[in-house]
Amino acid sequence: MKFVTILLTGLLLSPVFSFGTKDKTISNLTAAYRGELAALTQYTAFADKATKEGYPEIALMFTAIAKAESIHAGNHKRVLALYGVEVQPYKPEITVSTTAENLKEAAAEENHDFSVLYPGFIRTAQYEDAKEAVESLTWAMMTEAKHNQIFNAALITMQSKHLENLSKVYYVCAKCGNTFDTPTPDQHCPFCDATKDQYFRFPKK
Ligand SMILES: [Fe+2]
Ligand SMILES: [Fe+2]
Repeated sequence: MKFVTILLTGLLLSPVFSFGTKDKTISNLTAAYRGELAALTQYTAFADKATKEGYPEIALMFTAIAKAESIHAGNHKRVLALYGVEVQPYKPEITVSTTAENLKEAAAEENHDFSVLYPGFIRTAQYEDAKEAVESLTWAMMTEAKHNQIFNAALITMQSKHLENLSKVYYVCAKCGNTFDTPTPDQHCPFCDATKDQYFRFPKK
């Protein structure tokens, strides 16, 4: 009887004891931080490759999107610091193929990030009541969905050999990384409400 009481008490209290810890979120945020750093490194190299292959429009796209990933990495790092975790140095290993292959790979990775990886991380952060992490992860997830669309559209444009149809200007929100493939972005970022003067422009004026 005593054993049953202890067991039941333990079962009832265990969620209370686990509530308040952010262990899983910290582990997920660390993985997300590394993933964003890898994307930053990868897209910077893909931009160089696109330039060498004579695709300046695609090089500009990769450069702008690399900036967005660096903002996501910075946001995740800031939230980890808030939770008492200092990120360790990390040097991602990347592979560079042709620009067409690089675009395909980038689109597939963004698809996985916005449809599988980030939604799972966000659910865990909500469960662990990690509000700051939910915000940082949500900004990244919404942006990656746009990156996926931008890369897919670029692939189609490249296959149809009408690269002149690609945007010649990109804006990236400095607060959340939201990416606009248009010369006329929203005056207020729909993700984080930053104002247009807080956006980075590619190319710089
Ligand atoms: Fe992305
Ligand atoms: Fe934003």
